[in-house]
Amino acid sequence: MKRIIHGTLAVLVATGAFLPLWAQGKGDPKVGKELHIKNCQRCHGEQGKGDGPAMKAVKTVKLADWTNPTEMAKYSDQDLYKITMEGGAAVGKSKLMPAYKGKLKEKEVWDLIAFIRSLAKK
Ligand code: HEC
Repeated sequence: MKRIIHGTLAVLVATGAFLPLWAQGKGDPKVGKELHIKNCQRCHGEQGKGDGPAMKAVKTVKLADWTNPTEMAKYSDQDLYKITMEGGAAVGKSKLMPAYKGKLKEKEVWDLIAFIRSLAKK
């Protein structure tokens, strides 16, 4: 009997039935947009095209265009999460991309990812 209960629990957890939505990678793009304006827009640009004012003078690195589905298909949600939390240097990218660990909550990063994903319309 105990085993059956354990088995059922494992299935429920595995299917995400017990996890909050954001932990399943389903953030809120509206919240994400606000966070983007506050934290990311100056480099990534209002539309996420990678043309923010803080990057105008930087010629050595090209940011991805978040509205380009082909470009964004190269990144899994986990990739986007890791880059945002740990920063560019942690994934072999430019250290100009700051790490947001300790600045943004896990949920907020998933909200941002939901926003980023909403920009590239196929
Ligand atoms: C100070 C400028 C700066 C800020 C602020 C910034 N980024 Fe970045 N970000 C970069 C740079 C530069 C890269 C490109 C790194 C590379 O390709 O080597 C990058 C890359 C990324 C990437 C990988 C795809 C891409 O666009 O090239 C993601 C995802 C990302 N940033 C998310 C965020 C999020 C989310 C925020 C806000 C919470 C943010 N960034 C804030 C500079 C910034």
